[in-house]
Amino acid sequence: MDGNGRWAKSRHLPRHLGHKKGIKNIIKILYECLKLDIFCVSFYCFSTENWNRPQDEIDHLFNYLEIFFKENIRELQEKGVKIHVSGDISKLPVSTKKTIFDAKEATKNCSNLIFNICLNYGGRDEIIRAIKKIEEEKFDVKKLNEENFKLFLDTKGLPDVDLLIRTSGEERISNFLLYELAYAEFIFNELYWPQYTIKAFHEDLKIYYKRTRRFGGLSDGN
Ligand code: IPE
Ligand code: MG
Repeated sequence: MDGNGRWAKSRHLPRHLGHKKGIKNIIKILYECLKLDIFCVSFYCFSTENWNRPQDEIDHLFNYLEIFFKENIRELQEKGVKIHVSGDISKLPVSTKKTIFDAKEATKNCSNLIFNICLNYGGRDEIIRAIKKIEEEKFDVKKLNEENFKLFLDTKGLPDVDLLIRTSGEERISNFLLYELAYAEFIFNELYWPQYTIKAFHEDLKIYYKRTRRFGGLSDGN
C-alpha cells in the first residue's frame, strides 16, 4: 500500500492524513477479496524500516490502525474474516498490541477470508526469527525442507503468494514476504494507495489472469 504520503502532499495535506485515508481504503479492497472468494490477502502496513520515520507520523499511523480495528471488528467478525498478524509486534505500542490481540481473538474461528496484516514486518527479520524458533524448538535442522521451513515463518498456515500488487508506481519488493513471494506475479500500479479503487483492483486481476505461470516448468502445449 504505497503512496499515502504523496497522495496527501499532492492535496497540500499533512502526510498523516494520507495514512488516515489509506487505512480506510483497506476495508473496501478487503471486502472485495471476500466477494471474489479469495482465500487470503496480505496488507503491508508497517515495515521494520518504517521506524526511521518521524515519531509523529508513526504515532498517527498506529492510532489510525487502532481506530480501524475498533470500528470494523464487529463487521469483520460477522463476515467471517480471520485476522492474522505477521511481523514482530512485541515492539508496537501497548494499546495497538491490545487492539490487535482483541481483534485476533474475536475472529479466531472465522474462515471466509484470511486478512494478514503485516506490522513491524520485514522479510529478512521474519527469516531470522524463523531460524531462532527452529533452534528454540530444537527442531532437527537435517529434517528441514522448503515446506516445513514455512511452519516457522509468521505466515505459517497461509499459502504462497500468487499475486503482489504494489501501488504508487514504485517497483521494489521493500523486504516484503521474501520467502513467500518466490513464484508470485508482480503488478505495479501507478495509483497512490488512497486512490486505489475496486475498479483498479479488477483491472489488475484481469492482467494477472492473463499471465501464464510456469513455476520454472514449461507452459501448456510445449
Ligand atoms: C505507504 O505510504 C504506507 C506506509 C509505508 C506506512 P507511504 O507513507 O510510503 O507514502 P509515500 O511513499 O511517502 O508516498
Ligand atoms: Mg512509500
